[in-house]
Amino acid sequence: MSVKVHFLLEDLLVEAPAGAALQRIADAAGADITFGCRTGSCGTCRVRVARGLAHCNEPSPEERDFLKGLDAPPDQRLACQVSVHGDVDIEYLGI
Ligand code: FES
Repeated sequence: MSVKVHFLLEDLLVEAPAGAALQRIADAAGADITFGCRTGSCGTCRVRVARGLAHCNEPSPEERDFLKGLDAPPDQRLACQVSVHGDVDIEYLGI
C-alpha cells in the first residue's frame, strides 16, 4: 500500500510506501525541508501536518516535550520523527 505526501510550499506530490519515514520521503523527493540532527533535538525540521495528522505515528514523549518548549500547537511535528501511514499534507516551518 502506498500513501500520498503533499509538500505544500513547493506543491510537490509524491507517493511512498505506507509507514515510510517522512525524512526519507522528503530527501528522496527533494522537498524543501532542512534537517539538522535527524534525532529530534534541534527543531530545524519542524513542520505543520495540515491534513492527515491521524495518519502519522504518535509523537514520542521526547518529541512532545521538545515541541511543547516551542509552544507548538498539536498539528506541528518534527519531520525527522514522523512516519506516514496515510495521505498527508506537510507544510515546512523550521525552528
Ligand atoms: S532534524 Fe533536528 S529535530 Fe529533526
